[in-house]
Amino acid sequence: MKLQIEQKHSLMVRWNHWVNFPVLTLMVWSGFLIYWASPEYLLPGSWLDAIGWNYQLAKGMAWHFAFGILFVFNGCLYVGYLLLSGQWRFPHYHGLQRLAYWGVIGMALCAVLTGFSIFKPVQLSGLTAMFGGYTPARVIHFLIAWGFIFFFVVHVIQVARAGWNTFRAMITGWEKKDD
Ligand code: HEM
Repeated sequence: MKLQIEQKHSLMVRWNHWVNFPVLTLMVWSGFLIYWASPEYLLPGSWLDAIGWNYQLAKGMAWHFAFGILFVFNGCLYVGYLLLSGQWRFPHYHGLQRLAYWGVIGMALCAVLTGFSIFKPVQLSGLTAMFGGYTPARVIHFLIAWGFIFFFVVHVIQVARAGWNTFRAMITGWEKKDD
């Protein structure tokens, strides 16, 4: 039996993918810091105090904006690359995977747009109005954060089920083919 390997993921996609993982994790974490700084959601004396997630507005915002820039930059590179290279067709994936990957790209776009809507609702009133106003934009932004967590759990389970060859290809770029 001959060992056959085939290039699956380009260097660009692998960089975009692995940069995205810690950046998005930090976005979700700092988002929760912002959320639990709001007086209406504060839970004094709870487990949030123990892990230091209460009363952290300044810290949460600083991390959220710093990594938000990276998230947008990395996302633009990824989508730009997909469009220019023809990879937007997601040739290696079946229908459900394509739907999930397009879905998560759409979620990222909505996360950024709703993020700007609640950051500058007066200056960007047209954008905020597109989401039905400040409160709906805030709710959508929050639901998308949970959507990312949901995608992540399902994605990692699927990757574990697919096995080592699939995971290794996202690191090295190469996949082993059965002949
Ligand atoms: C521990 C965390 C993660 C692991 C181990 C992981 C692993 C993988 C692997 C192995 C693939 C290739 C699947 C295949 O070839 O069938 C993949 C693709 C993909 N993953 Fe992840 N992933 C992780 C986190 C994430 C996160 C947080 C996101 C975004 C929310 C994400 C979005 C994607 C996308 C969009 C693709 C398709 C990439 C392309 O071909 O253009 N992943 N992931």
